[in-house]
Amino acid sequence: MGSYQPEYPVTYPPFPDTGSLKDVKCVPLTPVIGSEIRDVDITEWLRAPNSDEILRDLSLLIAKRGVIFFRNQHNITDEAQKEFCRRVNELSGAPKENGFYRHSLKAMQGADPEMGKVDPDRIYKMYQKPLNGLPRQSHIKEWHTDSSFEPMPPSFTVLRLAEMPETGGDTLWASGYELYDRLSPPYKQFFESLTATHKSTALYGAAQANPSQMDEGPRGAAGNVGLDFSSHHPVVRTHPLTGWKSIFAYGVNCLSIDGVTDIESAQILKKIGRLILDNQDTQVRFHWENTGDLAIWDNRCTFHAATTDHFPVGPRIGWRCMTMGETPFLDPKSKGRNEATGGWPYKLENPK
Ligand SMILES: [Fe+2]
Repeated sequence: MGSYQPEYPVTYPPFPDTGSLKDVKCVPLTPVIGSEIRDVDITEWLRAPNSDEILRDLSLLIAKRGVIFFRNQHNITDEAQKEFCRRVNELSGAPKENGFYRHSLKAMQGADPEMGKVDPDRIYKMYQKPLNGLPRQSHIKEWHTDSSFEPMPPSFTVLRLAEMPETGGDTLWASGYELYDRLSPPYKQFFESLTATHKSTALYGAAQANPSQMDEGPRGAAGNVGLDFSSHHPVVRTHPLTGWKSIFAYGVNCLSIDGVTDIESAQILKKIGRLILDNQDTQVRFHWENTGDLAIWDNRCTFHAATTDHFPVGPRIGWRCMTMGETPFLDPKSKGRNEATGGWPYKLENPK
């Protein structure tokens, strides 16, 4: 467990929305997750006189919608992308000393260890076993939340693509709020009683094989250190900005449910996986159209998955940075989104 025990916010959100985004064109892509902000140049926001208000209000919007897309950000540089991510995180009230995640495998660190290269071809060569020429029939393992094995996992991730295939390579996100709200009251109560072990078996295995190839950290937060790559987190966590409960246990880095049998753990994780896969209306799918497209998402209330259909079509190279948030917590006074907002249809804010 992480040693830092957070104090729960007194109110949600912990700061008011100033309304700085009220005239921004913001199109909700589905009722429950994902909005696209149009006709905005992020680099102008970074220089605006009311820049702090804009980015703080944006952090609330991301927390509500899970993921926000911006197209045609052709002016943005690596440095501007990092500034955008860092300031959204800081202004949203993340622990002050927290910064950017850095990959633990030195071989994966480029010139700037805080800017990760997303290259599915390289990742597959490292982690995937050959499929013996047979088709893959399940891509369920693609669904995850970033680096959840850390004691203080990432809050925000910003991704933009530098090279893209002619077609394919879409990314999907699913709403953790909505997954929670799809549970019956007894299941909600049961899931809230659980914690899960998050562990990167890939990084742990690499450290066991050759510790000298590893960066022991810190990885964006003082407690994110060492070569165990393991943490326990609540299965249902409260988002510190919205106060809404979200499912936070699934994916390649979520190993098992604590305190239950192996069979029960597998059943619970399978239940969460089925909630995602059986309910496409918990998801939003984004097609990357050009190299100016950018997504910023909140890992505390979403899962995401890449679509690896582009291998015959062309490379897909992206640049990703992510900032670390708080130690995950479940505030007993917090609510699910539907309960907090008066039930379905959940009220969209800023729905231009
Ligand atoms: Fe990811």
